[in-house]
Amino acid sequence: EFLELLSAEDVVYGLRLQKVEVPTAVRRGDPVWLNCTYDLESDDLYSVKWYKNNVEFYRYLPSDDPPGQKYDLLGVYVNLSQSKLGNVYLSSSDLNTEGTYRCEVSAEAPSFQTERAERELQVYGLVWFEFRA
Ligand SMILES: *[C@@H]1O[C@H](CO)[C@@H](O)[C@H](O)[C@H]1NC(C)=O
Ligand SMILES: *[C@@H]1O[C@H](CO)[C@@H](O)[C@H](O)[C@H]1NC(C)=O
Repeated sequence: EFLELLSAEDVVYGLRLQKVEVPTAVRRGDPVWLNCTYDLESDDLYSVKWYKNNVEFYRYLPSDDPPGQKYDLLGVYVNLSQSKLGNVYLSSSDLNTEGTYRCEVSAEAPSFQTERAERELQVYGLVWFEFRA
């Protein structure tokens, strides 16, 4: 029958995180892209959320109007008009931007599957940078 024709690889389906791209280090003041890409396979997207140190600052729900929303968080300067789906644009950075960033992607019913991954971001150039001017 049909199922017996599938290899082990084929039967693994559903939501899968592909890449969570957060720069390891940025210079103070630099803009930052946080890019989370995923493969939905046969699922529909319910939400993509971004957290810093476990606090949510951005969510994208295709069913919401508008789909993208941000929440004020110290040091996280989301530019909503340039952010979409899992790609979030921070227009600047400072010492408070440092931290652990987590992307969390959830599928719609019936699977409700959630995948998440974290990356560390550091900000450098904190002292000499200021005294140069
Ligand atoms: C992140 O996504 C944005 C928008 O699609 C793109 O312009 C940028 O190059 C991406 N950055 C990385 C590191 O992939
Ligand atoms: C977001 O980016 C757009 C396009 O570059 C810019 O016009 C706008 O001022 C930015 N908004 C904020 C809040 O930084």
